[in-house]
Order: sequence, then C-alpha cells, then structure tokens
Amino acid sequence: MASAKIADVGNSLLGWYDAHARTLPWRAPPGSDAVPDPYRVWLSEVMLQQTTVAAVKDYFARFIERWPTVEALAAAEDAEILAAWAGLGYYARARNLIACARAVAAAGAFPDTEDDLRALPGLGAYTAAAVAAIAFGRRAVVVDANVERVVARLFAIAEPLPPARAAIRAATDRITPERRAGDFAQAMMDLGATVCTPREPRCLLCPLSDVCEGRRLGIAAELPKKAAKKPRPERTGTAFWIERDGHVLLVQRPGNGMLGGMRALPDDGWSAKADGTGNAAFPLASGTALGAVTHGFSHFGLTLTLRTASLAGGPPDGEWWPVARIGEAGLPTLFARAADLAMASRSD
Ligand code: ADE
Repeated sequence: MASAKIADVGNSLLGWYDAHARTLPWRAPPGSDAVPDPYRVWLSEVMLQQTTVAAVKDYFARFIERWPTVEALAAAEDAEILAAWAGLGYYARARNLIACARAVAAAGAFPDTEDDLRALPGLGAYTAAAVAAIAFGRRAVVVDANVERVVARLFAIAEPLPPARAAIRAATDRITPERRAGDFAQAMMDLGATVCTPREPRCLLCPLSDVCEGRRLGIAAELPKKAAKKPRPERTGTAFWIERDGHVLLVQRPGNGMLGGMRALPDDGWSAKADGTGNAAFPLASGTALGAVTHGFSHFGLTLTLRTASLAGGPPDGEWWPVARIGEAGLPTLFARAADLAMASRSD
C-alpha cells in the first residue's frame, strides 16, 4: 500500500470509531480526555483473552462491584476469586490475575510502559500492548485475532496463519498512528468484530474499503488463511457424585494444571493423561452412571461420565458441600454441567 494511503488508514479509522465505537464498560468514550482506569483496562483485557465481549460483560461487572480496585482484588482470598471466575474458562488466567494484582498492589500502581507491563504475571505481548495503549496512551502495536483479520485483508497477506503473524505485525506497525493509541487499537478490534467479520464481511460499511487490497483483489473474505489444524484428540474420564446427608463431596483441584485450584467433583484422574494433574483418587465404590457431558478444552475434547459412588476408605480430602447450594460452589463449566446431570436425576 502506498505511504499516502497508509497515513489515511489511521484517520479514516479514528473517524469511523468516533461514530461507531461500541459502548463497553471498561472504555473511555472515543476521543475523550478521561483517562481510563488501568485496573479496569487490565481486568477486561485478561478476561477478553480467548473469550468474547458478550461472555465477559457480566463477569467484568461482578468483579468491579466486588473488587473495585486492584488493592481490593489483591486482598481477596484465592478461592473467592477462582469461584467468581468459574465459567469463564482458561483458569490459568485467574491464577495469573491473582498473582498480578498482588504484584501491582505491592508496587503501588500499574507500570505504564509496554516493557514493564510485559513483566507482570499473565501479560503476554498482546495484553501488555493493549494496556499500554488503552490505559496509558502509549503507541503500541496491538494485534488480537480481530486485528489479524483486518490487517491480513487490508494488505492482502495470503500466507497462512500462524507463519503470517510476522508480516501482519509489521503491517499493523505501519498503520498504527502516534496519536490516540488506545482508540486506534480498539477501533481495529471493533471493525473486526462488527464490519470486517470472519464470514461475509460488510465491505460496503467499511471506512477502509477504498484502500483494502483484499477487497480490490476479491479475496477479502478468504483471508486470513489458516494452516490445516491437527485433529483435536478426544479423551474420556469419569467424575463421581458422592452424596451423604444432603451434601456432596467436592475437592480442590491441584496446583497449576487443568482447572488448577478450582473446586470440582472427584474424578478418576482423566486430566493426568493430559498434564499429570488429575485429582488424587481416593478409595471408593463406583455406583450407577448418571449420564455424560462433553466439553471442548483448547487441546482436546472430553467426554466425562458421571457416576454415583460411595467412599470405601477413611475421611476424604475434600469438603461436603450442601447439594441445595451447588450453584454457589463456583464449579468450572465442565463440573457444573455434570452436577446438573446429578440434580436432574434426583428430581426424576
Ligand atoms: N477484545 C479485546 N480487548 C478488547 C477491547 N478493549 N475492546 C473490544 N474488544 C476487545
């Protein structure tokens, strides 16, 4: 793309954003002098990693209401935060969130440069750049999946992802203006989410359609190309519903692995096959099958069968949770759905 056109991209996009920015709870209005709270920006960006705006909105509101500042979040119990995160997925994010909040609270404030942000727990290249731009107005090259699509089309980058990432990043750098860094980054995200959509892009509404090489070549909708994915392995496992006096036995999953630190139903250690972090199996007598749930993790699919069971050994390393309040246990989605099966079988 010619340099004169490159200079236009920033202006056209910012003009479009002034009129069409999505109103989102962590944002300052476009062009405003209001400085967004770095805590809100950081929290939203961590929640938005691998997760849609629609899924994040309610979680964001609940977190902000309960922990209005990074100091408040840093002072909360791990278990409370993990339970509040339940259902958002990718639980390593929640563990990093806790570590990051404590590091920031101990330091007294969020650092305000991309490099220093990158050193915090859980802040990868994308999140550090996004927070630097949005919360601190620093020019940073912010590339998420929406931006990748917009830029691959704008520059007709036909190399498949992931190798195309270097070219996409370089091209994003070329169009990133010095001014209004946060607005520019979020304008690209909004364009990708609402106009330059994965299928059937709405090029007639696009402020960049005049300069879009992908559109000129008639290949915009095919980009970005993606390298063929390996098929996702399928695993199976069993979880146990162990009930006594109106209470069900819950365990805390170990450390840093799959769903690490989260409350869960006891299981047969299915995740040990994935990363060696299955629940410690304790002696039990397995009973009847109550059904099965399927769940997609990022690297494998799981079919989890739920069975009733009774304890065969001494006191378990877990907690007896009131069955009637199972919805408040903060179970991750997989186990919440398994618990739904057990609840449905009780009322049959
Ligand atoms: N996705 C990730 N960060 C976002 C933001 N700040 N606005 C909209 N979508 C996003």
